[in-house]
Amino acid sequence: MNRRNFVQMASMATIAAAQAATGSKKKDATLNVGIIGCGARGLGAVVNILSADKNVKIIAAGELFPDKLASAMEKLDRLNTGEFEGRIDIPKENQFTGLDNYKGVLACDIDIVLHTTPPGFRPQHLEAAVEAGKHIFAEKPLGVDAVGIRKVQAVVDKCKEKGLSFLGGFCYRFRDSMVNTVDKIHNGHIGEIKNIQCSYNTGLLWTRLRQENWADMEYYTRNWYYYNFLSGDHIVEQGIHNIDKMCWVMGSKPPLEAYGMGGRIVRTDDKFGHIYDHFSIQYKFEDDVYANFTCRQQGGTERRVADYVVGTEGTADLMKAKIKSKKGDWRQRKQGIQMHAAEHIPFIKGIRSGKVLNNGDESVISSMTGVMGRMAAYSGKVVTWEHMMKSKEDLTPPTYDLSASMSEPPVAQPGIYELI
Ligand SMILES: NC(=O)c1ccc[n+]([C@@H]2O[C@H](COP(=O)([O-])OP(=O)(O)OC[C@H]3O[C@@H](n4cnc5c(N)ncnc54)[C@H](O)[C@@H]3O)[C@@H](O)[C@H]2O)c1
Repeated sequence: MNRRNFVQMASMATIAAAQAATGSKKKDATLNVGIIGCGARGLGAVVNILSADKNVKIIAAGELFPDKLASAMEKLDRLNTGEFEGRIDIPKENQFTGLDNYKGVLACDIDIVLHTTPPGFRPQHLEAAVEAGKHIFAEKPLGVDAVGIRKVQAVVDKCKEKGLSFLGGFCYRFRDSMVNTVDKIHNGHIGEIKNIQCSYNTGLLWTRLRQENWADMEYYTRNWYYYNFLSGDHIVEQGIHNIDKMCWVMGSKPPLEAYGMGGRIVRTDDKFGHIYDHFSIQYKFEDDVYANFTCRQQGGTERRVADYVVGTEGTADLMKAKIKSKKGDWRQRKQGIQMHAAEHIPFIKGIRSGKVLNNGDESVISSMTGVMGRMAAYSGKVVTWEHMMKSKEDLTPPTYDLSASMSEPPVAQPGIYELI
């Protein structure tokens, strides 16, 4: 039996065990949901899960900052109308703030927990969620460093053992037009894959300016995008979508190695923390397939969010769901159900039927591949998958206490940054 068959059989066995464990006890029952991290995506995920099934209710909310929870509660109140009327019901005693907010949410009578904080908190929160026996939706990425993402792999495995769902928020995998394009690639429509070109090149994003009364850690967590211990840098936080598509096309198998570069040319102001503003990474997969990935966040530049897969018989454009091939051109113009909404449909159906959805393995591989690319650029070295499986890089700060002082980590300098 080759390695691939072995892995497939092992995962089929885990799925079967998970199905047996879950049964279908939630077939018609109300599914109660809690949310951890009440920002833009969190509120979006609330709408998505409520739309996926009429018998879902939001009953608990956790947020680090009281002011943000208050503003989220106002928005949630406004949502509590029409088809959602009566389905967002979060009593005061189910609202939690501070660093332990997630413990409060998990102690509520919930079946499902939505994880939509900055990804630096993901491993810690996911470990607690699986211990508490909750079905998990975890926004991408699943962590910001190798140590954290390996912890999430253990969470994914535990979900399988316990019959719990694990939905990683790599939403493009639920966009109908892209699913059909990737299926065609996997079925040989462009021949043998030779090269992939992906980019997530955009403009500038938000920043949160420091207030006088904010200690270092409060500033970092409010302006979280610009600190890699919270966001993973933009290759991991945003570029990860295209890295995920690249891994998906390659059969959700990890790359062998990454080599690349990056830096910050435009975003040099203090308010941009210590992350880069551009990356260019070359990933090498089995059979000498190379995937070139770029991401850039610089104002006034050409936006390009695209993925091209080049095969021996043709080329596929994933975002446009378009194939030009000697075997026949093909295009799907309609995307299907909006992808953030679409991902919650099989998630809920799986919980109700007992055949729980678990896309954790592939979500872990994609998250780790993003971190691998960042480490390659930061260090200027070749980073192998074997290295990622044992890397001790752990970006967790000594404390997340909001009143803590902590000097800002330096901008990584290739050739100096230590690969650990
Ligand atoms: N799938 C997608 O297309 C997509 C799109 C946007 C964002 N995201 C992901 O969603 C996550 C959140 O992004 P966002 O845009 O909503 O950011 P955001 O800043 O709008 O929201 C994050 C919220 O989490 C809160 N928070 C921070 N630390 C917390 C903690 N320890 N416990 C509880 N709450 C905490 C913040 O105060 C904030 O309100 C990120 O992982 C991001 O990558 C995914």
